[in-house]
Amino acid sequence: MSDRLSNLSPKEKRALLAQLLRKKSGTLDKLLEQAAINVKDLKAEAALDPEIRPTGTVSTQVAPRPERVLLTGATGFLGSFLLSELLRHTRAEIYCLVRAPNVAEGERRTRGSLEAYALWDEERSSRIVPVAGDLSEPLLGLGAERFEELAAEIDAVYHNGASVNWVYPYEALKPTNVLGTLEVLRLASRHGAKPVHFVSTLGIFPLVGRSDAGVVREDDDLDHGGSLYNGYTQTKWVAEKLVEIARARGLPVSIYRPSLITGDSQTGAWNEDDFTCKMIKSWVGLGNVPDVDTEMNMVPVDYVSRAIVRLSLQEGSLGKRFHLANPQPVKVDELVSWIEAFGYPLKRIPFDGWRTELLNPAKGLREDAMYSLAPLLSMSAAIEGPKMVRAIPEFDRRNTTAALASTEISCPPVDAGTFEKYLVYLVRSGFLASPTGG
Ligand SMILES: NC(=O)c1ccc[n+]([C@@H]2O[C@H](COP(=O)([O-])OP(=O)(O)OC[C@H]3O[C@@H](n4cnc5c(N)ncnc54)[C@H](OP(=O)(O)O)[C@@H]3O)[C@@H](O)[C@H]2O)c1
Repeated sequence: MSDRLSNLSPKEKRALLAQLLRKKSGTLDKLLEQAAINVKDLKAEAALDPEIRPTGTVSTQVAPRPERVLLTGATGFLGSFLLSELLRHTRAEIYCLVRAPNVAEGERRTRGSLEAYALWDEERSSRIVPVAGDLSEPLLGLGAERFEELAAEIDAVYHNGASVNWVYPYEALKPTNVLGTLEVLRLASRHGAKPVHFVSTLGIFPLVGRSDAGVVREDDDLDHGGSLYNGYTQTKWVAEKLVEIARARGLPVSIYRPSLITGDSQTGAWNEDDFTCKMIKSWVGLGNVPDVDTEMNMVPVDYVSRAIVRLSLQEGSLGKRFHLANPQPVKVDELVSWIEAFGYPLKRIPFDGWRTELLNPAKGLREDAMYSLAPLLSMSAAIEGPKMVRAIPEFDRRNTTAALASTEISCPPVDAGTFEKYLVYLVRSGFLASPTGG
């Protein structure tokens, strides 16, 4: 189902967009009220088959020299950086579960994404083992025999693959994000108890529409009683709940929760499909931005991937939860000033006016661009516009900070210099038009 949705035709996208945005506001509000789900009502979705239970001896120690690991989502943004880090910091063969009709195509896709982010390393490439499969299929689409073989072969799983889509509803994302996680846990517990490193998100906590800022801690209860506003965060919450159930049954699991992942802090390479990139493109295209008093917590992808791989190989880290957030969040106004300094003239206008402009077909913004911003617009309609993001909580990171204290890895600030690298990259790639001024 998710496959079909990710291949929506422009006409189908327009219809969905119309449904999300162009209803009379009363109807839209009702639609959105229904879209927000309290985690209490999601709990029943987190049902882990009783047979998913580790067999044999369970070790709580990481394998310091894994020989074979399985990585999901290696053709994606963070996945490419994780693959590169795993190749550099282990001697393991990295089995990459890739959506492809055959191994040759899987190889082509994995290589293609590493090359796109300038990460391809010919010498280490022989340790990449593509596995043609699909998270949304039973037994990862591998068939019983290959599934058993793989379960026996691997030493650990890095489960990073997911459908990262802020528009589709829960049901559309469930096969990949929820059932895919369930199949990964099945694989990890089939022959012994293989460590699972699960890439989650800070979005599993209620971050918008809060009345107070508060602090979100790494070991906070998942049953926080708050509401989650899109299908993506809802499916990630249920997936993390499944991982916690598997932990309670004895599977060694570590959980990594990044905030908003941005481009490589050194090369500027970023995923053009990312929500933040699309948001910036719409600002530049319209020439105006919403005047909102809020912050964004952004973490460069090179930091996230290095931290995950180091933590996953470090003694004493297995079984913990780690927040990968930036200790220095950025005010939206500051971000806007960096984009202006790069040469794009931007006018700050009240949120409601900006929303109207964005939806004005005469402005010529491509439907695709509007479509990708639909979740922001729809959430804002549901919870009184700009107020929704005013009270972003603080993300406590004590497990991460303590575990990385003796390493050279720390989260760099996303500042004017970093953002300039991102904008240069996005202009060079043709995603953004070259600025006229400056
Ligand atoms: N980006 C962020 O700001 C952010 C923030 C916090 C957490 N995260 C988490 O980080 C992880 C990676 O995110 P990302 O931004 O790198 O996303 P991405 O670029 O969209 O990559 C997603 C990866 O998952 C794969 N995938 C999707 N559906 C699949 C399926 N049915 N079967 C097999 N593979 C499938 C994709 O494969 P295809 O190439 O075939 O599509 C791709 O390799 C996700 O778990 C996400 O929840 C991301």
